[in-house]
Amino acid sequence: MERKLTQKPAYSLRTATDADHSAIYDVLEEVGSEIPIELSDETRAAAEYEIVTCCASGRSLVAIDDHQNVVGFALARPDLHTRGAVSLRYIGVSKDWRKSGIFAALTGQLLKAGAPLVTTVLTGNKSRMVELLTKKGFVQTAKKESEANFRWDPAPPKAPY
Ligand SMILES: CC(C)(COP(=O)(O)OP(=O)(O)OC[C@H]1O[C@@H](n2cnc3c(N)ncnc32)[C@H](O)[C@@H]1OP(=O)(O)O)[C@@H](O)C(=O)NCCC(=O)NCCS
Repeated sequence: MERKLTQKPAYSLRTATDADHSAIYDVLEEVGSEIPIELSDETRAAAEYEIVTCCASGRSLVAIDDHQNVVGFALARPDLHTRGAVSLRYIGVSKDWRKSGIFAALTGQLLKAGAPLVTTVLTGNKSRMVELLTKKGFVQTAKKESEANFRWDPAPPKAPY
């Protein structure tokens, strides 16, 4: 059953740890078809590797409910192509917790870290991801048939006078 939108969302964010691997995988499996990615016996190992790498990087976040259950995640790690940038690999929120501001909170915390953030949206994403990222200030940097790349840069420091 969906949570009522009027109910105060009782979640908090923390850095993802190695203990979160299987809980993150469960949420990724729940939202995978919307990303869209296929999680099968063949692709499971690659997804698990991404989760392990992102959790180990210290850049990833989980949203947890009052009972410490993982209800959302942002899997991020240093970008392999742009020095100093962070790559947001996957972000997802469990369906019962949608429209509680968790995506906004997760991305807000990542942006607050101040490093450029890059991400890829697959063609066929079912969650208005392009719109949500654009609202957050991401700009499209490349587009192919299968995906589009986005980047967010921190504002340049203000001149001291
Ligand atoms: C995309 C996704 C992460 C968004 O998560 P979310 O936590 O529901 O997002 P938010 O709650 O922060 O914001 C979504 C909308 O809900 C609205 N909202 C936020 N809090 C709300 C509240 N308390 N009541 C009503 N609406 C609310 C936001 O304003 C936003 O609407 P808008 O875009 O019209 O402004 C989620 O839909 C998802 O997991 N999708 C599948 C995975 C996916 O596609 N990931 C991206 C590719 S990796």
